[in-house]
Amino acid sequence: MLKTSVLLACLAFSTIAADGNYFQVLIREIDNPAGTLKNGQPCSNFGFLGAGCNTWMKAVATASGTNLSDINLPDAIQINKNMETRVSNLNFVVSDNYLDSVDAFTGFDLRVVLGTDSDCTNIIDDYIIHVSSNQEQGVYTYTNLRDGTLATTISIAWSTNIAPQSTTATPEPTTTGVPFTGSTAVPTTTPRPPVDCSEVVNVTSGVQTIYPDGTTPVSVYCDQTSYGTYTVIQSRGTIGQNISFDFPSVSNYSASFGNAGKGNNYWFGLENMHVLSGVKSYALQIDLCCGTKLIAKQIYHNFKIDTAANFYKMAATADISGVGLDYTSSGKDLAAQFSTFNDWHGKSKDSCDQFEFYDDAADIGPSVAYGGWWYGSCGNNLNGFLYPSRSGNCTVPLEVFDQNRMLGVNMRTTSVQGPGGYDVDLQSYDRVRMALFTFDSTTIDRTDSSFCS
Ligand SMILES: *[C@@H]1O[C@H](CO)[C@@H](O)[C@H](O)[C@H]1NC(C)=O
Ligand SMILES: *[C@@H]1O[C@H](CO)[C@@H](O)[C@H](O)[C@H]1NC(C)=O
Ligand SMILES: *[C@@H]1O[C@H](CO)[C@@H](O)[C@H](O)[C@H]1NC(C)=O
Ligand SMILES: *[C@@H]1O[C@H](CO)[C@@H](O)[C@H](O)[C@H]1NC(C)=O
Ligand SMILES: *[C@@H]1O[C@H](CO)[C@@H](O)[C@H](O)[C@H]1NC(C)=O
Repeated sequence: MLKTSVLLACLAFSTIAADGNYFQVLIREIDNPAGTLKNGQPCSNFGFLGAGCNTWMKAVATASGTNLSDINLPDAIQINKNMETRVSNLNFVVSDNYLDSVDAFTGFDLRVVLGTDSDCTNIIDDYIIHVSSNQEQGVYTYTNLRDGTLATTISIAWSTNIAPQSTTATPEPTTTGVPFTGSTAVPTTTPRPPVDCSEVVNVTSGVQTIYPDGTTPVSVYCDQTSYGTYTVIQSRGTIGQNISFDFPSVSNYSASFGNAGKGNNYWFGLENMHVLSGVKSYALQIDLCCGTKLIAKQIYHNFKIDTAANFYKMAATADISGVGLDYTSSGKDLAAQFSTFNDWHGKSKDSCDQFEFYDDAADIGPSVAYGGWWYGSCGNNLNGFLYPSRSGNCTVPLEVFDQNRMLGVNMRTTSVQGPGGYDVDLQSYDRVRMALFTFDSTTIDRTDSSFCS
């Protein structure tokens, strides 16, 4: 048994099968964003800060026609040692050396077992991916949707010199994947719809349809930059329809509203945010513009939105502490539930300066245009009143704020308290957006102001 395994492990690196045909899968990257085992338990005692699993991997691949279950799993290789949640540039090659029965290339199966030890007894994930394709080369990213826990994602490429079955049409690859349950029956092939913009085939900047829950279509703006793809989940601006972002209850923010588009007014919906942030580990980028000028680009890692039952509580880690969603007064937005004035959760409403007057008989009391938000610090609200453009000057004078009680579209860019002792910094931006991404944030051009113009 041991001999067979060793032999297979060696064979895995040989490139050409006996008859000159080859089929290989390159495993480029493995991402276990939540750093959990299959059973949902954190991999390490430091799971609370996002540390992941030291991972061993066994992988076999077969071109369709070879029976996956005829091939023993090879010995495991260790793919990381420092509790990384993502292993980039893994570039592990798996070959199918049993190609005798494969006459034409129609796709392949890949089984990947991830565990925390060399025997893979402690399972992180175990699944089979089936890819139907008649292209001799291709790339694919597959996210295994694990029950109740965050998915692992695998990025692969394949290459073969076996002629495809049909050379007329070259459809995009369709894949399915199933958790491995002991049988290697190949699942029926249905295309997996894109959950976010990065999965839209040949995505370009513009409005695209994504399927956060796998079946329900949602229109979003996709921003394709030279460094990566963003899925825009909120935007405000003076292009397109000027719509109200002020609703009485949290449930009014559950579904998406507005019109997707660059500089448009759009809300992805809290339910979509909850579902999507459970599929992968996303980073959130907030862009703030005044006129055509980029005021700030803020980045937060591990963005999560909790369930409706927990009032869509937000969780994330700020790139720079103390500013933006991490601004701290009596709390932080980063750990806040979603509230509207009439449907308030979490901290006391009185602790927000801008709401104080509601409860104060001497004040002018109930106003509009605050919009629902994760009011943790009371310093931010991208769903506030959209002041008309003011020639590139986004300052809201204190008197105007005091008179109108309409702060506008706010986001803290410093960690000190605002003018007049308020938590807001008395700026109302005229174009903002919240966008999710999964690529390496160090590649971002922090000066890219293309969203502002
Ligand atoms: C693959 O092998 C398994 C176990 O030997 C067998 O039960 C199954 O029918 C085979 N599948 C195909 C498509 O030949
Ligand atoms: C995606 O781009 C590739 C390469 O340009 C092209 O062959 C393929 O047809 C495109 N697919 C779609 C769905 O547009
Ligand atoms: C807000 O939600 C409530 C309850 O679902 C609904 O009755 C009401 O019409 C909604 N309001 C707006 C302005 O959409
Ligand atoms: C949006 O509409 C509101 C209400 O009609 C108006 O007060 C505000 O000035 C408008 N904002 C812009 C940017 O046009
Ligand atoms: C911007 O507007 C504020 C409030 O109206 C004003 O006090 C300030 O001088 C303006 N700044 C510039 C640079 O025009």
